[in-house]
Amino acid sequence: SFPAKQLPSCNTCCAQTRKPKIPTAVTVLLVFNYVNMASICRQLLRGSQTFAIKTAVRASTTQPMTFARCMSSENFKNIVVERVGKNSNVGLIKLNRPRALNALCDELMTEVNQALDEFEGDTKIGCVILTGSQKAFAAGADIKEMQNQEFSDVFGGMFLSHWDQLSRTKIPTIAVVTGYALGGGCEVAMMCDIIYAGDNASFGQPEILLGTIPGAGGTQRLPKAIGKAKAMEMVLTGDRISAEEALTAGLVSKVYPKEEVFDKAVALAEKISRNSRLINSIAKEAVNKSYQLSLAEGLHLEKRLFHASFATHDRKEGMDAFCEKRKAEFKNK
Ligand code: COA
Repeated sequence: SFPAKQLPSCNTCCAQTRKPKIPTAVTVLLVFNYVNMASICRQLLRGSQTFAIKTAVRASTTQPMTFARCMSSENFKNIVVERVGKNSNVGLIKLNRPRALNALCDELMTEVNQALDEFEGDTKIGCVILTGSQKAFAAGADIKEMQNQEFSDVFGGMFLSHWDQLSRTKIPTIAVVTGYALGGGCEVAMMCDIIYAGDNASFGQPEILLGTIPGAGGTQRLPKAIGKAKAMEMVLTGDRISAEEALTAGLVSKVYPKEEVFDKAVALAEKISRNSRLINSIAKEAVNKSYQLSLAEGLHLEKRLFHASFATHDRKEGMDAFCEKRKAEFKNK
């Protein structure tokens, strides 16, 4: 039962606002609301009943809006989702909680996951950009949401465990960071495959100043990106580094004026999207595994994935096109 003001008007059969006659297929979508159900099931499987219940309750009050999401990528509460680029083949997720400097509340991260699911399912999308505002990419996990949580809540609820979908998505991802990327903001940027920074970007892991430590990869990904000494200094002091320092340290791949960096990232995303989506995901998996495997294991995996590419249409097409001096037409097969 939905609050009356949230009832969708039925534009399929009766044009009524209240109690619309909803066709069976639509009812199934509303009732089984696949995005939220997937999230609820994931949380239950992880034993996170508190979060599953929270998600279910939230879903029950936002069903009409979520139904709209099934039809288009709009109407999220904390993010803006679009398809950008000349061929609309770049997925854009813009964090949009300006009053809280894009602090990453639970609902926002659930929406990011939903948008990622949608882009994963759209074979036209070849790359995803995650960005925030000029002032803040994201000022961290939402401190006000965490303030009164206790150990039993965060441990029992597997707090932050649903944040890492960004690091697992098969589509290449680019974080465009302008302004603050602090705490969870820095961690979420690091979950992306490539970081482009505006010249006003600042990166930091200030959790120590709040009496806690990074919980979404800051103590693990940061040392791998910039080395132990620099990462340890940042984690133990909460000090921030500028875009230029982040570039020198290897955390970001390019720095541009803050007004230009987004367009540069879209151009990069379009370039990546011109490749085979299938082979992009294989290349991405190989690079990401280098973080987890020994050199010998990584080299073995790389060789196997390289061999596997010979089972694809796109590998043959790429080499044929080179030999025939024409542009390759990839089919993602
Ligand atoms: N969680 C929740 N709310 C946050 C937030 C966060 N991580 N970061 C900023 N906000 C909120 C502020 O509480 C403030 O809300 P209010 O107007 O209702 O009081 C609003 O965003 C603007 O922040 P403010 O501190 O006034 O802006 P500023 O320009 O003076 O400072 C920062 C910007 C980013 C330096 C400062 O907000 C900050 O230090 N934030 C926390 C960073 C952090 O510790 N992140 C790690 C979290 S684990």
